[in-house]
Amino acid sequence: MRTTTSRITRRAMLAAAAALAAGGAWAQGDTVKIGVILPMTGPSASTGKQIDAAIKLWVAQNGNKAGGKKVEVIVKDDAGVADTTRRLAQELVVNEKVVALAGFGLTPLALATAPIATQSKTPMVIMAAATSSITEASPYVVRTSFTLPQATLGLADWAAKNKIRKVVSLVTDYGPGNDAEKYFAERFTLDGGTVIEKLRTPLRGADFAPVLQKVRDAQPDALFVFLPSGQGAAFMKQFAERGLDKSGIKLIATGDVTDDDQLADIGDVALGVVTSHHYSAAHNSLANKKFVEAFQAANKFRPNFMAVAGYDGMRLIYMGLANSKGAGGDALLAGMKGQVFESPRGPVLIDAQTREIVQDIYTRKVERVNGQLYNVEFDTQKAVKDPAKVK
Ligand code: PHB
Repeated sequence: MRTTTSRITRRAMLAAAAALAAGGAWAQGDTVKIGVILPMTGPSASTGKQIDAAIKLWVAQNGNKAGGKKVEVIVKDDAGVADTTRRLAQELVVNEKVVALAGFGLTPLALATAPIATQSKTPMVIMAAATSSITEASPYVVRTSFTLPQATLGLADWAAKNKIRKVVSLVTDYGPGNDAEKYFAERFTLDGGTVIEKLRTPLRGADFAPVLQKVRDAQPDALFVFLPSGQGAAFMKQFAERGLDKSGIKLIATGDVTDDDQLADIGDVALGVVTSHHYSAAHNSLANKKFVEAFQAANKFRPNFMAVAGYDGMRLIYMGLANSKGAGGDALLAGMKGQVFESPRGPVLIDAQTREIVQDIYTRKVERVNGQLYNVEFDTQKAVKDPAKVK
């Protein structure tokens, strides 16, 4: 009964949202609103904290005007629960008449919202979630984060070139983990290596003890890991507690595991871990030095890859509004496609065909720099498209 009621309400709200978009409700008045939905509480709160801080930094540095309109940012907390994300998105579209939706800390939260973006013709900027298929869930989705296939292939190549022949993979069992597992295995096999075992842990309440025992028993040359941002410290602690750091099994991972947000908590056990990713707080460019300095001056923590995608997502919305002269809907979407700019992570492009970010992917190693741990980049793959969309 409850389900039926909420379904009817949902349908009515979607119809209202579609009607509003068709009438261009956002185009009236001098103010445009951006609706940001983030996990500010719950297990992914670090993602919300990072992106929220980056959005505030963008507005502090660039003002609250774009495309001739005053910009108002509304941040809502979904606590990482998809039903809440969907309800908040409906409210933001119908009641607040937002010109864009943004945020989305986890893949299921983005996927729950995509139909609302489509129905209401509201551009939806993905600042965190990284499963490849998300951009295909709605023609209004545009991504400034990354995809797991994009971040993974370079690491498989690095492993094969560095005497690693047998790998066990360990991923969180949902969209991005499945992408990481598949793309690592395919590429590593092409490179002549073998993935001898594929292990998965649940998204919620992961206990790494049983899988780490399996890793030890399998005795691979290396363990390849993907875990979503926020779980790296707990994993690395158990990895060390079980003595795996001294077992001769090399740890390699996507940069989500040696997240800049958690590297200090992880501590010395992270030293030497090789990862691949699109952003490091240690990225050596003037744009990044300025970004990190300003971010750290405004907050008491270091920006991570979530923060950079939030910052770039705001830039994309501002550029889109400038191009659409403050209009929303299809005009704003068109204004975002094809944008090229220098991000703190390096040069990026929003592919007009796929609405996916094209960016450099770096191979990095955790090192101590001036007394602090950093992911130090030592190799670059230029302008990497999401491999899942390159056929
Ligand atoms: C996701 O849910 O898509 C996700 C979340 C955190 C990450 C990567 C992917 O670090």
